[in-house]
Amino acid sequence: MTKAAIEFKDVDYTANGIHILKRITGFFPKGKITTLVGPSGAGKSSLFKLCNGLQTANSGQIYINNKLIEQYAPTVLRRTVGIALQEATMINGSVEKNLALPLTLKGEKLHKELAIELLKVVGLKESYMSRNTQELSGGQRQKLSIARTLVNKPQVLLLDEITSYLTVYPSRTSKN
Ligand SMILES: Nc1ncnc2c1ncn2[C@@H]1O[C@H](COP(=O)(O)OP(=O)(O)OP(=O)(O)O)[C@@H](O)[C@H]1O
Ligand SMILES: [Mg+2]
Repeated sequence: MTKAAIEFKDVDYTANGIHILKRITGFFPKGKITTLVGPSGAGKSSLFKLCNGLQTANSGQIYINNKLIEQYAPTVLRRTVGIALQEATMINGSVEKNLALPLTLKGEKLHKELAIELLKVVGLKESYMSRNTQELSGGQRQKLSIARTLVNKPQVLLLDEITSYLTVYPSRTSKN
């Protein structure tokens, strides 16, 4: 058995008459960070969406932790494979409300300590908790999106160009 977190066998995906993914075979190893590189429009986001049931392949097999994707209940699949999308969708309201969303949908509450910890993990200050998401910058929204994906402690985490709005500035140098 392959030590794969996700495995693709001959996966084909067509949407609205456009053949987006053609006979994709390969795997993302377990316990590793894998980067998927390809030009714009190559189908990276589409491939990710197939992995947690946001979209469905037309043919071929996808295995998550060696189990066929069709054998997962949709809610279990979504919790197993966390996905933070390129354009994070936020509901109108506070950072805390958005962070708690995956649990609210299950009828559960997010503990304040966990909320603070998750914000810290992604580098957002605790004071942001009560801020409205409409006031966040693109990068801050992406950070919140990652934190929100972590709420369900997914076994597989897919980050779709999640750093596209995050700029890393070179550290300041002395003035000479
Ligand atoms: N629902 C859809 N219906 C029709 N075409 C689609 C749909 N979703 C994606 N596509 C097309 O499929 C192709 C792959 O799109 P996708 O978003 O997966 O690319 P990508 O590799 O993530 O690109 P980028 O690097 O720009 O994010 C594109 O040509 C896109 O226009
Ligand atoms: Mg994309």
